[in-house]
Amino acid sequence: MMGNQDLRELYQEVIFDHNRNPRNFHPMDDADRVADGHNPLCGDLLTVFVKVKDDRVEDISFVGQGCAISTASASLMTEAVKGMPLSEVEALFNDMHLMLTETHPEGRDFGKLEVLSGVREFPVRVKCASLAWHTLHNAITQAGETAKTE
Ligand code: FES
Repeated sequence: MMGNQDLRELYQEVIFDHNRNPRNFHPMDDADRVADGHNPLCGDLLTVFVKVKDDRVEDISFVGQGCAISTASASLMTEAVKGMPLSEVEALFNDMHLMLTETHPEGRDFGKLEVLSGVREFPVRVKCASLAWHTLHNAITQAGETAKTE
């Protein structure tokens, strides 16, 4: 059984790893949905690209410049939602919001995303951790809009 200290260190390590080596970190030319996210507190920006097929996230990637928490959160998010039905992504978005701001939603297993739960104690960091999720939510709910080409 791991102590709290060990658990915290493990969480830190996962965040460092995903910041140093973000997964799915690239633009996507043929994305169906694209959204930009902006954290007005620090000016950080990120863009999320999603390819949707049969109401699922067929592929997802992101680019941008942000702090370690926002980059790690975006990276973990892309891993977590790849292949997921859009309705589940929306449910996960809502649960993540609860987890990051208030409390652990009952019955939800966050898997690796649990490493982000530590930000709850640091209100400024909550924005960092939720930036990618809000951006993904926007990308998904703009149904019918053509992806931006830049
Ligand atoms: Fe800008 Fe974290 S400091 S997103």
